Amino acid sequence: MKVNKAVFPVAGMGTRFLPATKANPKEMLPIVDKPLIQYAVEEAIAAGINELIFVTSSSKRAIEDHFDKNYEMETELEKRGDRELLGILRGILPEGVSSVYVRQPEALGLGHAVLCAKPVVGNEPFAVILADDLINEANNPCMNQMMEVFNDRQVSVIGVERIDPSMTHKYGIVKTAESAERLSKIIGIIEKPHPEVAPSNLAVVGRYLLTPDIFSFLEKTGRGAGGEIQLTDAIAMLLKEQDVLAYEFKGKRYDCGSKLGYLQATVEYALEHKELGEEFQEYLKTFICKAWLDTK
Ligand code: G1P
Repeated sequence: MKVNKAVFPVAGMGTRFLPATKANPKEMLPIVDKPLIQYAVEEAIAAGINELIFVTSSSKRAIEDHFDKNYEMETELEKRGDRELLGILRGILPEGVSSVYVRQPEALGLGHAVLCAKPVVGNEPFAVILADDLINEANNPCMNQMMEVFNDRQVSVIGVERIDPSMTHKYGIVKTAESAERLSKIIGIIEKPHPEVAPSNLAVVGRYLLTPDIFSFLEKTGRGAGGEIQLTDAIAMLLKEQDVLAYEFKGKRYDCGSKLGYLQATVEYALEHKELGEEFQEYLKTFICKAWLDTK
């Protein structure tokens, strides 16, 4: 089994970023100069995925436009002979990669969003990437690390990381056994448990590689935490029938669904930016020195 398809659930309302997200999808918020969704798509493509499935809603048209051709802009840049910008524009969706848009008619949760992609995914293993979780690992992007595990083991693989134990109520939390380096078998998974009842501090981040068997469990999953159909609950059923592995990825994750995580990502990506990095570092140094002196 080889993974060719990735599902991007992008129908959420993004209320945490209002008013910025009133008319713009939260996935289109930029980190420096690239929208979050494009980082997610680039990670999928770097893992060998060539079919992108976006699960969208009515207010997310900007995402379709972003991955579509913009003839007017291309013609204008051609006229100006601006090869560099043309390259950036045409590289957004490289040749050989296709995209499909499926609507999630009601906001019934992540599990429901993934189920909406079933007719397009069919009977193949597939990836799920949540663009809110931005993972920086240039040498071997997170989804590719997981793909290496999948290609070897041919079972579902979930990306996890250790979190502060007081934060378990924000994540799917796994219980694992038979731990090898970075890889362990999941024996239990629960959505957003309170710290007192959490089975561990290993949190699911927005990276999943799933066998198509997940769909039959999603169809049976009732409403769970927050009144939503949870992917976590379907995975809990799946792992009773087949192995599901937790993989502690290499790389740094930013929770760009929160304002603080978004700002941290913006600062750190700006520092690494090839045109901007040095100048921004100088600015930050001066700014921090001044702020520090002001406290004296
Ligand atoms: C979703 C999942 C949760 C996971 C998280 C990762 O929650 O339901 O299991 O840990 O993504 O970001 P959400 O953040 O959409 O509430």
